[in-house]
Amino acid sequence: MTASDNRLGWVHPRACVFDAYGTLFDVASAARRAAAEPGGAALAGLWPRLAEDWRRKQLEYTWLRSLMGQHADFATVTAEALDWALDTHAPGAGAPLRDRLLALYDRLEAYPEVPAVLAALRRAGLPCAILSNGSPAMLAAATASAGIDALLDARLSVETVGVFKPAPVVYALATDAFDCTPAEILFVSSNGWDVAGAAQFGFRTAWVNRAGARPERLPKGPDRVLPDLSPLPALTGALP
Ligand code: LAC
Repeated sequence: MTASDNRLGWVHPRACVFDAYGTLFDVASAARRAAAEPGGAALAGLWPRLAEDWRRKQLEYTWLRSLMGQHADFATVTAEALDWALDTHAPGAGAPLRDRLLALYDRLEAYPEVPAVLAALRRAGLPCAILSNGSPAMLAAATASAGIDALLDARLSVETVGVFKPAPVVYALATDAFDCTPAEILFVSSNGWDVAGAAQFGFRTAWVNRAGARPERLPKGPDRVLPDLSPLPALTGALP
């Protein structure tokens, strides 16, 4: 396939690299599921706010720890962010509910289109990988639980470099893994700031804007904006 064979007019990607949390996996699903379980009454009605603040604090802590040179793995950061969010929204929740939420974070629901999209891309010869803040153990648990292990060529974790996205050294894990230039990677993320970091590194980018968020005001924006992952095979010329 030549540069002009796919609908992007780009160099044909050597690999499609996905952010994990929020892109392949629904991060709100842990709080939603916990609230629906017998022990989850403390989250009734407030699980969406808990999920939102848990995620917001989790990301803030990754950026702050990176700036401070105080790396801890994503499991630690995720637990610390949950403690802040529970303290704010459900201070009486107790340890069992906290533990349940963290256990569910290892078994987040994949978005429904994920398996078919990964399968279509790989059928067309485009390797697929995850590049994530998640620790290797978290990513292994999440992909196994979602049943997508066999659809992934690599799970790349920031733990290899000990700093979180959007540090450039993280994105370099993908070019190293696929032995290619940044422009040969198609990077897909639902996080606008992650897309900005990836674009800055030189990746081609697709922003999956499921929630209709406003565009970020950062130096580089996405090449494409998608409502979910479904258009990816057609976009990359991977459809039969
Ligand atoms: C990740 C976070 C940023 O998976 O969603 O890297």
